[in-house]
Amino acid sequence: MYRQFFRPLVMRLNATRVHRAALSLLRFATRIPLGRQLLKLHYKREYPSLKQELFGLEFPNPVGLAAGFDPDGEYCGELFALGFGFIEIGTLTPKAQGRDPKALSMAVPGDRAFIHRNGHENKGVVNAIEHIKNNRPEGIVAASITYNRNTPDEGISKDFDTAFSLLYDFVDMFVFNIAIAPQGVRSHLEDVSSLNEVMDTLLERRADMDTIKPVLLKVSPDMQTDQLDAILLYCLRYGIDGIVVGDSISNRPGMIGGRLSDEDVLVSGAPMLPKTLSVIRHIRETTGGKLPIVGVGGVMSPEDALEMFRAGASLIELYTGILYEGPKLVKNILKYLDSQKIKQ
Ligand SMILES: Cc1cc2nc3c(=O)[nH]c(=O)nc-3n(C[C@H](O)[C@H](O)[C@H](O)COP(=O)(O)O)c2cc1C
Repeated sequence: MYRQFFRPLVMRLNATRVHRAALSLLRFATRIPLGRQLLKLHYKREYPSLKQELFGLEFPNPVGLAAGFDPDGEYCGELFALGFGFIEIGTLTPKAQGRDPKALSMAVPGDRAFIHRNGHENKGVVNAIEHIKNNRPEGIVAASITYNRNTPDEGISKDFDTAFSLLYDFVDMFVFNIAIAPQGVRSHLEDVSSLNEVMDTLLERRADMDTIKPVLLKVSPDMQTDQLDAILLYCLRYGIDGIVVGDSISNRPGMIGGRLSDEDVLVSGAPMLPKTLSVIRHIRETTGGKLPIVGVGGVMSPEDALEMFRAGASLIELYTGILYEGPKLVKNILKYLDSQKIKQ
């Protein structure tokens, strides 16, 4: 049904609106009698070979939903019925923030890509907590957090701290997006000295908590190697639990076709895969496999997913692949990984 009905709409119309309509339909389907059970029967698969323990959490399978798909954690209860092993909600900011005037999102079907300029539009952390409380997800939830778009530099650390502290009891793990700033541009937090300032407070806050929850950093595959290596060293030295690679990459002339190809936009989907894989391999080699990697960027098929694991990812996440292939991509990937006997 997704490929026949929603995919042509996502490709042609305002993708954000169609995406929201699809999520509302998913909610409707889970609320009719037996709806949730039927969805699970159709999409959810369990493979003992794909279960794994990581960061002290039991992942039923290694395929998650990437940040941005359910920014407010409004639908994660329903999205688990589609078979995801975990869901990353957000990116959330302490206060709600509306659509950036320059925001844009559209499919580029010829390149199996999605281009966007995204300013982390969301309804704020408190609203997300209400959704989680009212619709308790039956799986591992990661929260992606950042600071508000109009926060001055001296308030950035406080914003992260507020979002982190408020959410701490309601999610299982955290991802700090240090790739893209809420203004939709590359973040200055990719520089380790700026990152240090923010992370010091957060790691101290975490040390005071009753339970220690995993904290991961999300980086862009576009990062300069020396900058990335400094971040990796930082992660290993200060107890960051893992790294998410990565956020959408900057457009380059010739990377995608179509009339928007020269614009200053971020690209996700198929064109990202080679870059993401090479950064994952680099991280695995540089850290000797000591820093768990969540691979995201360009997984459009079961074969792509296998390549991510072979490159060194312990978990993967999907976004654009779901928009092109629909939710059955998750079950297809799991079946293929099981048949290949991929051991994490
Ligand atoms: C429309 C759109 C919105 C996104 N919003 C976020 C976001 O809020 N936070 C974030 O960390 N990543 C965000 N992303 C990036 C995705 O999480 C993912 O890293 C990227 O799309 C690459 O994966 P893919 O090729 O499977 O799409 C967004 C991506 C798209 C296409």
